[in-house]
This record gives sequence, structure tokens and C-alpha cells, in this order.
Amino acid sequence: MNAVKIGLCGLGTVGSGTFRLLHEDEGNIAAHARCPLTLTHIGARRDHPDCDTANYQVSRDIFAVVDDPEVDIVVELIGGTTVAKDLVEKAIANGKHVVTANKALIAEFGNELFAAANAAGVALRYEAAVAGGIPIIKALREGLSANQVSWLAGIINGTGNFILSEMRDKGREFADVLAEAQALGYAEADPTFDVEGIDAAHKLVILAAIAFGTPLQFSSVYCEGITRLTPEDVDYAEELGYRIKHLGVARRSERGVELRVHPTLIPEHRLLANVNGVKNAVLVEGSAVGPTLYYGAGAGAAPTASAVVADVVDLARDLGAGQQPRVAHLGFDCQALQDLPVVPMADVETAWYLRMEAEDRPGVLSDIASILSQQGISIEALIQKAPEEGESRVPVIILTNVAAQGKLDSAVAAIEALPSITNGIARIRVESLDG
Ligand SMILES: NC(=O)c1ccc[n+]([C@@H]2O[C@H](COP(=O)([O-])OP(=O)(O)OC[C@H]3O[C@@H](n4cnc5c(N)ncnc54)[C@H](OP(=O)(O)O)[C@@H]3O)[C@@H](O)[C@H]2O)c1
Repeated sequence: MNAVKIGLCGLGTVGSGTFRLLHEDEGNIAAHARCPLTLTHIGARRDHPDCDTANYQVSRDIFAVVDDPEVDIVVELIGGTTVAKDLVEKAIANGKHVVTANKALIAEFGNELFAAANAAGVALRYEAAVAGGIPIIKALREGLSANQVSWLAGIINGTGNFILSEMRDKGREFADVLAEAQALGYAEADPTFDVEGIDAAHKLVILAAIAFGTPLQFSSVYCEGITRLTPEDVDYAEELGYRIKHLGVARRSERGVELRVHPTLIPEHRLLANVNGVKNAVLVEGSAVGPTLYYGAGAGAAPTASAVVADVVDLARDLGAGQQPRVAHLGFDCQALQDLPVVPMADVETAWYLRMEAEDRPGVLSDIASILSQQGISIEALIQKAPEEGESRVPVIILTNVAAQGKLDSAVAAIEALPSITNGIARIRVESLDG
């Protein structure tokens, strides 16, 4: 059988991991691919200390890789949406299959890239783009194809989960843990993508597009980060029997599709509530199979390379056997994609956690309850602490029943206007994750 030839673009964290896996585990990988895989050409601006590329063709201009007539599969691991987009477009135009770990590229430009790949008759694979080493794309596109997915919820940013785990376990402040995450190399130098939820939003739109057969719609995702969470919220959540996790949630309802990334209280007995540190997990509710959970390393050189090389192996199996790649880019044919509306956040219904500071005098709680009830919101649980020595204000924590965000917004504005309430009200969504 002919060898399938690979061009590797980018020799950073994931690129070096991919190089090492292809280089060190060649026999095992070829056995899985049922044909030899040859790393033919590497594009890297500089050498990587962990990669001995002496016996490989290396170009400092990565575009030399996509222009190399020998290369069958281009592996894009440079990241970003500028040069990487040009590179992938050029590879497709040159008739190469592409494997990428680039969630930003797929989430923001996937619709046009998949269309171009379809037109050119080549595959664009992206397993490593979501949840690193966890084969969640394959599970959704292939393993769950007999199901209608009603919702999925995932911890899909390891840095954010590390920060929340440390805040809970050690009572640490957000900024303090973030500094450690940066020192440990978990967070980006500019951590905005991690802590503001943008990275999770990129991954969520990819999951939602596959789960619901919709086009990728990154600009419609509601995105709320974890920067405003306090150790008090983490502790009160615990007292109420919940953990706070930064979730990406995609849910299908009669009104369309919900796409949202935000901190969420989830019951402490749920498996997802016990996913800690830098680990990722995605819970998917399928019509036939019920709930299934996928857990593992969401980032890192070797776990991410595992997903990259699996895509390469899949493609090589088909190419080696002289076949076209088997599964459509989103698991659905482009013509079959549904144009479901994204549900406005004002209409999205969840239960709510509210934390406020109130004067410690009779009548305050009944004012709050009456405002909530005017919006049809009832109280499921309430904690009111005794005032500290010499303090006249007390923290009040409320768990509400399920209410649309629009109604909750109106109630919160009215409560904040009460003279007995000082400062703003902290609010966090609550998800039971039970159907
Ligand atoms: N790190 C993870 O755990 C992880 C997990 C899942 C997915 N991903 C995705 O994988 C991709 C790569 O991430 P990474 O963490 O490996 O990034 P990285 O360590 O920064 O590596 C990127 C590499 O690409 C090179 N590069 C960038 N632009 C280039 C250009 N124009 N020409 C030649 N080389 C260029 C960089 O070279 P220089 O060093 O010279 O700048 C660097 O070696 C990203 O899309 C990321 O989102 C990463």
C-alpha cells in the first residue's frame, strides 16, 4: 500500500507533541492506519528543543509545505485566524486534506472552509479543536449519529476549571489562582480567551453545530467569564449543595438553539461537578442513548497530539484504501444543515443563585420575595447570615426556581433599587443537568 505523506505546519506545543508521536510511535500508528505514514515536510520558523528534525525536510516558510506536491495531508498547528486561514485555504485549493487543532479558525471560519473543502473534494478534520485529547467530535459525528441530541454541557476550558477548583479547594481569590495558572503554563500570556469564555465559546459552537446539524454561529454565543466570581460565591454554593463550574451549554428547544457560556451552579452529586483541575468533560443527552459523559485531558502536547494523529490515521485509512473520506464535516451534509434561530438570552430559562447585601431589619426579606413573585419567580432556598459584630448589613443568598433571564433582570433591577439593599446583586445561573 502507498505511504500517505504528511506536511506538519507549526512546531510549538501541539506541533512538537505531534512530531514526537508520529516519530516515536510510527509502527503502532501505521498498523492503525493500515498503511505507512510518512512525515514528509515540516514548516517551522525555528527548531524545537524536543524535536530532532535533522532527517526531515524543514522549511522556514510554512507555505512551502502546502505547495509541496508530495504532501497528501497538511496538519495546521500554528493557531490564530489570519495566516492559519490563508494556509488552510491554500492547502484546500491545492487539493490537500487538512487536519487542524485550531478551534478559533473552525468556529469563526468553518462554514466557508468546509464549503471550500467540499467543493475541492478534500477533508478538513478538527478533533483536537475541542477538549484536546477527548474524542468528542468523533463521538458526536459518528458514535451518536443515531440520536437526536437535546442538549450538551461541557467544561471545555482547562484553565478556567483549574482556577475554579483551586478557589473551591483552597479558598483562594481569582486573581491569585490566575497568576499561578500563568506560571504553570496553563493560561495564555493574555488569558482573556480562557477567563472571559471566548475559548469555550469557540468550542461550544463547534459542538452545537455537530449536535444539531446547524451552521457554525460564533457571533451568536452568549459569553460570560469567571472574573467576577468570589470565594464567597463558591462557599455559599457549597453550603447549598452545589459546585460552580464554567460551562458551555447548547440546548435545543421549540424556540431554537441556546448557545451560552457562563459560570453555573450544578448539584454537587453530578459527575460534571466533580471534574477538577485542568481536566475537561462533556455531557451529552441523546434521544436513544440518554446521558453520556466524555472526560479527559483537554489540553497539553501529548493529549492534543493524540487527537491530531487520530484524525491523520482516519484520513490515511481512507486514502490508503483509495476511498473518499467517509463522514461529512459536521456529520451532516451541507445541504441538510438546519437554520435554527439562536434563542435570545432574555428568553433562556434557568434557575438562579442571587447574592446580595441587605440591611438587617424586619420586612427586607418580604420586600425581596414580593418583587420576585411579581415576576412569577419563587424562592427555592434562602440563606441569611447573622450580622458580624457591629455590622448592620447581612449577606442574603437566594436560589430561585426556573425563570427567564428577562424576568430575572427586571426583578434584580427592582431589588437593587430598594434602599435596604447595598451594592449590586451577584447572580449565577443554576443547571440541574437532569434532562
Ligand atoms: N496547547 C494546547 O494544549 C492546545 C490544545 C488544543 C488545541 N490547541 C490549538 O493548537 C494550535 C497550536 O497551539 P499551540 O499551543 O501548539 O501553540 P504554540 O505553542 O504557540 O505553537 C504555535 C507554533 O506555530 C508557529 N507559528 C505561528 N505562526 C507561524 C508562521 N506564520 N510561520 C511559521 N510558524 C508559525 C509558532 O512559531 P514561533 O514559536 O516562531 O512563534 C509556534 O511554534 C492552536 O490553534 C491552539 O488553539 C492547543
